[in-house]
Amino acid sequence: MVNLKDLIIDRPQDGKFKVHRSTMTSDEIFGLEKERIFDRCWLYVGHESEVENIGDYRRRVVAGRPIFFNRDQDGQIRVFLNTCPHRGAMICRRDEGNAKIFQCFYHAWSFNTKGELVGMPDEAGYGSGFDRKELGLSPPPRVDSYRGFYFLSFNSKIEDLATYLAGAKEYLDLIVDQTELGLRTIRGSNKYHIKANWKLLVENSIDGYHVFPTHQTYWDYMALEGMAIPKNRPGIGRALGNGHAVMENDCLYGRPIAFWNPLFGEEAKEPIAQIRARLVKKYGEERTVRMAEKSRNLLIFPNLIINDTTSITVRIFWPTAPDYMEVTAWEMATKEESGPLLARRLDNFLTFLGPGGFATPDDTEALESCQMGFNARELEWSDISRGMQRAPEGKDELQIRAFWRRWHSLVAETPYEENTENGVRLGGRVSDLVQLGAGDD
Ligand code: FES
Ligand SMILES: [Fe+2]
Repeated sequence: MVNLKDLIIDRPQDGKFKVHRSTMTSDEIFGLEKERIFDRCWLYVGHESEVENIGDYRRRVVAGRPIFFNRDQDGQIRVFLNTCPHRGAMICRRDEGNAKIFQCFYHAWSFNTKGELVGMPDEAGYGSGFDRKELGLSPPPRVDSYRGFYFLSFNSKIEDLATYLAGAKEYLDLIVDQTELGLRTIRGSNKYHIKANWKLLVENSIDGYHVFPTHQTYWDYMALEGMAIPKNRPGIGRALGNGHAVMENDCLYGRPIAFWNPLFGEEAKEPIAQIRARLVKKYGEERTVRMAEKSRNLLIFPNLIINDTTSITVRIFWPTAPDYMEVTAWEMATKEESGPLLARRLDNFLTFLGPGGFATPDDTEALESCQMGFNARELEWSDISRGMQRAPEGKDELQIRAFWRRWHSLVAETPYEENTENGVRLGGRVSDLVQLGAGDD
């Protein structure tokens, strides 16, 4: 195996950034990722709106661990490891539902919404060392949330979530502030798998360079609908600290949040104008333009993507092997939307990012093609140097390099220095965070 320190060639002064392809194929590296990334970082669990009512629960797998989260009888959201303290069976057996009591199907121990052991058959058979209080459901070592998005960590020593999120917080604010009443996750999800390394989907999700060539069919469709698409839309890629990154572009399509487009139909003009007026009143013109007329593809390291583009899509993907991942995507909407506005949003979502939309099958094909290409092991390196020696544009790869630098520092356990590229390229000591403040158009 290539020495871990040599998996990435990062030389801003020469405009060179290369990633060794064993990062995408090696079982050994996959093992290190599990231990050094997924066991150490904050990982996405779900959104508060998924468990709106007392007793609501959702079941998930996070980094290979079965978990579930619920809203307990006092209204608090809790996350539990989905394994019985008795002998291991999974307590929660459905993906979603509402329950006052979770009863293990194996020997029928019962737990309330707080995870306390409240009943079992024939308790008298246990001796004096048996203590019900010690045998409740276990939470993961850490649980934290930011503006309704819940995360867990298997690393009890990790910094709090807000600190971890660094510059990504501002982008979550831009998304959440679009709504008066809060965001809600639309019921149901899209689940699919991709026979490719999970990091290829990270790259793809914040890659502006592929959008025109890969999704040509979409642009053809838009042209047929009379929408002229400029191929050089203004945009920017940003490193947000800690491996989080974003690609932010001027919109080429309508957004249910206050950006009308002819495809929405004349009747949508007025309601969308009203949303816009409300946002301007609350946040001012500049921030409204940013919320409504720019789109964001946000990566929260390591594997949460929030696409605030044609719609708000939350996407998480878990690798089970170096060349295989399971993807789940949810669509979010503002709570105030209903009727035609909501229908338009869902249509917008399905048209592009839905599993049978214009984008997702194309991207899946591209990623599986890359993975197959990696079988030609003689070609060892991929190139991610685009835009390395100029001010970053949306089609450049600074945001992808930000991910890889953090990935590399964790996997190889090397010091993490994210800002050197910008420092060199811009000829001064301008850090990504300084740039973030300066570039907030
Ligand atoms: S394993 Fe759950 S009650 Fe026995
Ligand atoms: Fe794509």
